[in-house]
Amino acid sequence: MSDLQDIVTIDGPSGVGKSTISRRTAAALGFTYLDTGAMYRAVAWFLESEQVDVTDETAVQKSLESLEIELLPAADEMSDVGVRVAGKDVSREIRMPEMSMAASRVSALNVVRKRLTAMQQEIGRRGKIVAEGRDTGTVVFPDAAYKFYLDADPGERARRRVAQLREKGEVQDEAEVLAMILERDKNDSERELAPLAVAADAVVIDTTKISINEVGRAILDSIRKKKG
Ligand code: DC
Repeated sequence: MSDLQDIVTIDGPSGVGKSTISRRTAAALGFTYLDTGAMYRAVAWFLESEQVDVTDETAVQKSLESLEIELLPAADEMSDVGVRVAGKDVSREIRMPEMSMAASRVSALNVVRKRLTAMQQEIGRRGKIVAEGRDTGTVVFPDAAYKFYLDADPGERARRRVAQLREKGEVQDEAEVLAMILERDKNDSERELAPLAVAADAVVIDTTKISINEVGRAILDSIRKKKG
């Protein structure tokens, strides 16, 4: 890997504000934002569209041979990055709540992780990236120079997610969103391979009581201080 000095990793559970923070951090540094979750979502969408039995790893592996993922830059600071799978724009589909759970499920498969980790490391080889996910600081870029782990109280994460959806005109029940968050946390942190975990050298930021702006500032301050 060429320039790990130029890699920032931001990990944490779902609904903690990672995407917004990662996009802003990337914009402030002039780095590329790498949304690894979007890649797991794209795989989940692909396997579903191909009607692959995800309990059959051999079938999944075979199907992944023809997988082509293309990440599309976010339209603006507020938008998620887009994804094209085999030439089809599935940016909207992959953000549906059922795709969140499907992505969490397929992300436990060894063949999926191996494939996506290799793709992510290839993108990282060019340097100057802000990688966001669950294992970017622990497994994908263990030698990254700047690692962050964001956390927040699950109730607060559910409230934020509901507010975010409301802004997009979608109404969701907070208790249901909380249940999904807790289930995904459990899946993502208890799986055997590359579980959600805090890297030993990560800066941990609890975002429960602080604003997105404050989190963004804390991250940039920490990077600048370390850079010297
Ligand atoms: O960050 P997200 O909600 O878009 O991620 C969707 C799912 O993908 C998440 O529940 C677990 C999985 N994922 C992963 O296993 N490793 C990553 N680095 C990123 C996401």
